Amino acid sequence: MKAAFLIASAVATLFAGAAALAASQEPIQPIAPAKVRNPAMVELGKKLFFEPRLSRSGFISCNSCHNLSMGGSDNLKTSIGHNWQKGPINSPTVLNATLNIAQFWDGRAKDLKEQAGGPIANPGEMAFTHELAVDVLKSIPQYTSEFRQVFPNGKVDMANITQAIAAFEETLVTPNARFDKWLKGDRKALTAQEVRGYQTFKNAGCVACHNGPAVGGNSFQKFGIVEAYKTASTAQGRMAVTGKDADRFNFKVPTLRNVELTYPYFHDGEAATLHQAVDTMARLQLGRTFSDGELNDVVAFLKTLTGEQPNFKLPILPPSSDSTPRPHPFND
Ligand code: HEC
Ligand code: HEC
Repeated sequence: MKAAFLIASAVATLFAGAAALAASQEPIQPIAPAKVRNPAMVELGKKLFFEPRLSRSGFISCNSCHNLSMGGSDNLKTSIGHNWQKGPINSPTVLNATLNIAQFWDGRAKDLKEQAGGPIANPGEMAFTHELAVDVLKSIPQYTSEFRQVFPNGKVDMANITQAIAAFEETLVTPNARFDKWLKGDRKALTAQEVRGYQTFKNAGCVACHNGPAVGGNSFQKFGIVEAYKTASTAQGRMAVTGKDADRFNFKVPTLRNVELTYPYFHDGEAATLHQAVDTMARLQLGRTFSDGELNDVVAFLKTLTGEQPNFKLPILPPSSDSTPRPHPFND
């Protein structure tokens, strides 16, 4: 009995070891759950992420365009900003954004903290000013005391606002996707079709750009390598940051984590479905035309990248005080 058990457990260990080894050799790695270092700061950042009073209209929050009930995106071709302005570019998901090499399609913000100040003052997004955003929060006693508790210098200022938002965003990772379970050795986590899709994804060369834990997010690459991408969008990609002509139409490779939820696709949002996006990628990036079967397989695989979505109590925002500056929803 005992010997049989020992052999069985030795074999099990061997298998687990082989699976772990195999996983480490894969071009995609599982997502690690978030390590929350400062729960009070994360709670404050969560409130600010949902805070529409950081916008001129008093109506638009980060969550308006990065809806955490919809994969951290708005599912629109391009976002709607202040006064119903048409945005210039598709809103990327905030889920797993902490794994990105830099933020924005062209990488113009180096990290989440630097990014978070942008939309508040962007006239086409929240259309506020940093001064007014700070004034609004300072006028709300619950916020001033929360900032005092969370930050050593106790200040309500942009540095602390963006740090809190970034701390919250760092928790927005989506571990335990079916694909991650499979990577960790649970061979039943995927169907035969999904495994086939993954093989095609690897063999065709998608993993050259979509790799690592985020299945992307870690490099800038040209969109339209074999064949040019035709678009009405004026976005130039990385060139806007480096000024180098060689960087024209280089975009940050988007993460494919939760890609099932973050339609429509590409920086101009012109690919409505995952089939369309995969077909375009195969032709333009790799010079390959996938058969219907291959397309279905790869799409099935991509849907296994949907992980556990953020799960928390909806934050309740403190009420304005009598002295809080009032919103201007109608460009008044
Ligand atoms: C009006 C819609 C809108 C609002 C409001 C908005 N965003 Fe965004 N966000 C976008 C768009 C569009 C982009 C892409 C812009 C670009 O790349 O040029 C973006 C990009 C980002 C990115 C980069 C993700 C990546 O993969 O590069 C992060 C992170 C982010 N936003 C967080 C926030 C936070 C935090 C707030 C609130 C302070 C916020 N956003 C408010 C539309 C919005
Ligand atoms: C040479 C690098 C490269 C290769 C190879 C590549 N991609 Fe991409 N992928 C990108 C870039 C860059 C983008 C962003 C394009 C844009 O919108 O500007 C992208 C975007 C995508 C998107 C849309 C994601 C979103 O959120 O908008 C999907 C889906 C995708 N790729 C899947 C694939 C598949 C499947 C393959 C293999 C057939 C593949 N990619 C091969 C670089 C690459």
